This record gives sequence, C-alpha cells and structure tokens, in this order.
Amino acid sequence: MTSPEEQTPPVMEIPEDRHYMRFSRLNRLLHVLMIVSFISLALTGMSLKFSYTTWAAVMSRFFGGFESAGYVHRFAAAVMIGVFITHIVDLFRRKKQDGVSWRGFIFGKNSMMFNKKDLQDLIASVKWFIGKGERPPYSRWTYWEKFDYFAVFWGMMVIGSTGLTLWFPELFTNVFPGWMINVASIIHSDEALLAVGFIFTVHFFNTHLRPEKFPMDTVIFTGRMSVEELAEDKPAEFAELVESGNLEKNLVEAYPPIVIRAIRFFGWTAVALGLGMVGLIIYGMVFAYR
Ligand code: HEM
Repeated sequence: MTSPEEQTPPVMEIPEDRHYMRFSRLNRLLHVLMIVSFISLALTGMSLKFSYTTWAAVMSRFFGGFESAGYVHRFAAAVMIGVFITHIVDLFRRKKQDGVSWRGFIFGKNSMMFNKKDLQDLIASVKWFIGKGERPPYSRWTYWEKFDYFAVFWGMMVIGSTGLTLWFPELFTNVFPGWMINVASIIHSDEALLAVGFIFTVHFFNTHLRPEKFPMDTVIFTGRMSVEELAEDKPAEFAELVESGNLEKNLVEAYPPIVIRAIRFFGWTAVALGLGMVGLIIYGMVFAYR
C-alpha cells in the first residue's frame, strides 16, 4: 500500500481558479450573522457594563441612549439565539442525511468531537513550536478549531440562559428565587468579559495572525480555499480527499477579486471593532474603575 505522501497528487494540475469548498452556504451565513450579532452584543453590553466611563456614554449615544442600547442588545441576542437554534436543526438534518447513528455522527472521523489524534496533534504542535519536530499533519478540524467551536456552545448555554433570565425576570422568578436575578447578572457580565476577551484575542490570532493565515483567513466567508492551501494547511484531510476521490467533487469556481476585497473590508471592520473593544475594556477596568 502506498502512503498518502506517495499518492499526493497533482496540486499543480488543478487550475488556480478551482477552489476546494470547505464551508456550506448556510454555515457561512450563520457565521456572518454570529459576527454581526456578537459584535453588537459586545458594544451595547459593554456600554452598559462600563456606563461610568466617557467612552460608554459616547457609544451608547451612538445607539440612541442607554435604554435603546438595551433594546439593540435584546434584538442582537434574538439573532444569536436564532443562529444557534438553526445550527442545531442543521445538525439533526445532516445526521438524517448521512443515515448514521448519533454515536457515529458525534464520534465520526470528521466530526467536531475531540479524539485521540487531537491530543497527538497538540503534543506534536508544541514540539513543532519549540523546533523539535515537524508541523503536524492536521485534518479537517484542528484541535484549536474544535476548542473554538465548543467555546461557543458553552458560551451560548451560560450567556444565553442568564441573558434570558435578565430579559424575563418575572417569568424566571415564578420558578427560581429572586436572588437568582443578581447571580444571573454577575454570571452574564463575567462570561461576557470572558467571551469578548477570548474571541477578540485568541480567535482573532488563529484566524488573522497565524503565519499561515496572516493577514486574514477568508475561508469562513468565501467557503473556498485553494487546493494548494488545503494541501499545506490540512495535509491529512487533503490526502484523504485524494484517496477517496472526493477532492474533485468538491472543487468550485473561485470568487472574483472584487468579492474578496469586499469580504476583507468586512473582516477588517470586525477586527478593528473587536480590538478597539478590548482596548476600551482594559482602559475601563484599569484606569477608570469606580
Ligand atoms: C445571547 C443571548 C443574550 C441575551 C438574551 C442577553 C440579554 C441581556 C440583558 C437582558 C441584559 C440587561 C440589559 C439591560 O439592563 O438593559 C444584558 C446585559 C449585558 N449583556 Fe447580554 N445578552 C446576551 C448575550 C450577550 C453577549 C454575547 C454579550 C457579550 C459579548 C453580552 C454582554 C452583556 C453585558 C456586558 C451586559 C451588561 C452587564 C452589566 O451591567 O454588568 N450579552 N444582556
């Protein structure tokens, strides 16, 4: 049997304008809605949390005052919850389409669930970082992509449930004691800080500052990546696609440069707002705390 390297195929034979389709249209749309709703929630939420600072007053004025910033926050929250529910429904649809059991779907080879290879890749990555090994042959989802994915799941549970408690306090206090509202408020506020800190630093680093992706990885917006990039970035997935004969089936037309420029503009706007937010939070906590 030949090794995947020996079978490694004819990247050069594939025309440059044929790209590998990594993300479906629905997943791309959900990610854009997630970005817009998350940034709106962060801006409006933080202007409430840091209402004692001048920047929060200026920012909330932009949203029409503190009260209407609260309404914008609720609207964006409804969008984010909608994104989450749509993703769960899509998972059920895909499981049915694949005709596999839940066990097979959740623990399958290309699922988002952590597996033994992730641990091996993590150890190999550390060795690679310190110059003691090669870059690991990452597959469809790397361990840090899986971590980012589950961070959103965890975040949605914590921030969504506490946010709904703050939104509908009368409803929740029919079942829970009143002091739960105070607890929900503290958890919501602290989890918001954690989420903003993580997304606008670690997630931004992974998608913008990694040397392989600098200055921006546009794949979540275009859904496409060049076959050369796939072969370099995810060698194990590439070898598997070639071996199974599925690579060609997933090749599509690349987007024209004007579309990429528009996408980059959107991406840079998100980065600027996110990093700006981190700066304002640090300022609010370190220099203006009351
Ligand atoms: C997704 C579901 C969410 C719901 C239902 C929700 C709901 C709420 C509600 C009702 C409030 C009180 C607003 C007011 O007093 O007018 C609030 C406050 C806040 N939210 Fe959210 N929110 C959600 C997600 C988020 C996210 C993702 C973030 C951050 C990225 C966030 C950050 C904040 C912050 C910082 C506050 C102010 C807390 C404080 O005063 O200390 N929220 N949220």
